[in-house]
Amino acid sequence: MTRRVLFVCLGNICRSPTAEAVFRDLLRREPSGLAIEADSAGTQAYHVGSPPDARAVAAARRRGIDMSELRARIVEAADFERFDLLLAMDEQNYRQLLGMAPRERRDRVRLFLEYAPELGRREVPDPYYGGATGFEDVLDLVEEAGRGLLAALAASR
Ligand code: 4NP
Repeated sequence: MTRRVLFVCLGNICRSPTAEAVFRDLLRREPSGLAIEADSAGTQAYHVGSPPDARAVAAARRRGIDMSELRARIVEAADFERFDLLLAMDEQNYRQLLGMAPRERRDRVRLFLEYAPELGRREVPDPYYGGATGFEDVLDLVEEAGRGLLAALAASR
């Protein structure tokens, strides 16, 4: 059984493509024997078709992760069928996803940081209008939650 997870933020150029790339890198570095597919999407259309933000690409590259080939897309109705989990980066995207989800798919929508309860945080802050440390914070948060997500998927096999 293949498990599919979709990381979701606003523009799909900073946080969610970073989460997708970091999670894929984690799957590659720490093979679990699970069949897992990861993708990302945004709730807003501003950046559809664009590569990730250059600052996000540079920050990931400093950690040995190439995310330059990703392209932004918007969340679509079929995503609630195709993906087992839709993981929102913040409360705004979480509410947006819940509003879009068919009633019987609402339980697939989660806040991504629920998988890192040790952080005591609910949101991956939007780094778009901030400085470079915002992108480092995104990398740290999505790595931690990605590990928790992988552990949860392994536990539910
Ligand atoms: P993301 O960051 O949601 O992490 O991709 C943002 C990207 C673009 C904008 C906001 C957040 N924007 O307003 O254009």
